[in-house]
Amino acid sequence: MDQIVVTGGTRLEGSVPVLGAKNAVLKQMVAMLLAPGSHRLTNVPGILDVELMGRVLDHIGAECKPDGHDLIVEIPDDLRPEAPLELVRQMRASIIVLGPLLARNGTASVAFPGGDDLGARPIDMHLAGLRALGAEFELEHGTVVGRAPNGLTGAEIDLEFPSVGATENILLAAVLARGETVLGNPAREPEIQDLVVQLTAMGADITGAGTSRMVIRGVGELHPVDHRVVPDRLEAGTYAIAGAISRGRVRVDHCLPDHLRMELKKLAETGCEVKRGDDWFEVEGPDRPRPIDFATLPFPGFATDMQPQMVALLAFGNGTSVVTENLYDARFRYLGELMRMGADVTTEWQHAVIRGSERLSGCPVLAPDIRAGAALVLAGLRADGYTIVSDIQHIDRGYEGFVDRLASLGAVIERRSA
Ligand code: UD1
Repeated sequence: MDQIVVTGGTRLEGSVPVLGAKNAVLKQMVAMLLAPGSHRLTNVPGILDVELMGRVLDHIGAECKPDGHDLIVEIPDDLRPEAPLELVRQMRASIIVLGPLLARNGTASVAFPGGDDLGARPIDMHLAGLRALGAEFELEHGTVVGRAPNGLTGAEIDLEFPSVGATENILLAAVLARGETVLGNPAREPEIQDLVVQLTAMGADITGAGTSRMVIRGVGELHPVDHRVVPDRLEAGTYAIAGAISRGRVRVDHCLPDHLRMELKKLAETGCEVKRGDDWFEVEGPDRPRPIDFATLPFPGFATDMQPQMVALLAFGNGTSVVTENLYDARFRYLGELMRMGADVTTEWQHAVIRGSERLSGCPVLAPDIRAGAALVLAGLRADGYTIVSDIQHIDRGYEGFVDRLASLGAVIERRSA
């Protein structure tokens, strides 16, 4: 049970490189199930979620061998098409194995993921999409049991909402289905586009990734490839806000600023100086951030996974900001912890009103999820005295060496056992 102890008041200065995207690599590991043989991913972050997804793949019969920031995965001819509750509970994204397992085996049993720290999180769109391709599902004792007795056949599917997970599940089934699938209103996140790059290299026939209409023409088989994981825009954005909140100047390297256009635009509105090149950007924080309003939306809107970090910054603003959360019903849960530090916040349905304060004061807080955990550490970079963040296994799920990276920028921060 480790904790992060951060002492506020130091200006961060320097540069930090980011690794591959958590939300890409997890799905790219699953995509490998589509082709027997030896696959390799490079630029893989050393995070807990990759280890947890590795356990899911191991259960299915694959063998995952980490090699520094590479991950070699051997996929056998015969798979065990199931993901049990103890694994799915730890790694909610395991639900994505449904599509590829149905495509390869014609059957799949995956424990129903249920809710988590961000709210109820249903999977109705995943199941409706796979049903349209010919799968049948039953919920048996908490497990989703899927069968495709006649194989999968391409279909026209329109998503009510551009769900990242549903888009991936459908895509990972449709690539091996008979005929053409037209997917309307798919998610357009860069991580989906990178999954399509990997699948295309594996031999899949996909057009329209990143647009509002994707066409997937099923192929008979796919083959293993080496693939470099797209940089993590959320990790990059978190370090940008670390620099901004500390009134410092931080350059983020090995990233794609184009994937953070909205977040960088909003940071500039708070008074940050933002400079950017093709694969780096630099953010210099103002003394007091200007208040801004923003709403989270699917990409290319403001990422819900950057909302808590931005709110931490606005908590030090010189005015009142209004933030609207459109993706998750429980995403504001961390605000109670930020208020323990002295933040002046009220919430009404999916809106939070943040009246900026000149000072917050460090205290013990609990990290409720990955991004909120990171946001509380960021608030601690500027708060008076010590902020002690517990439940940091959440932070370990998504950030490699978070404490070391912030320390390398000059933060007074350490990890210690509770
Ligand atoms: C992924 C990301 C997560 C990010 C989110 C939105 C991973 C591992 N996680 O999650 O970090 O915050 O995208 O950018 O990549 N929904 C339904 N029915 C469904 C599917 C989704 O109602 O069948 C709802 C969800 O409850 C949520 C919203 O749609 O309110 C968005 O979910 P979705 O885009 O599917 O997110 P995830 O893939 O779960």
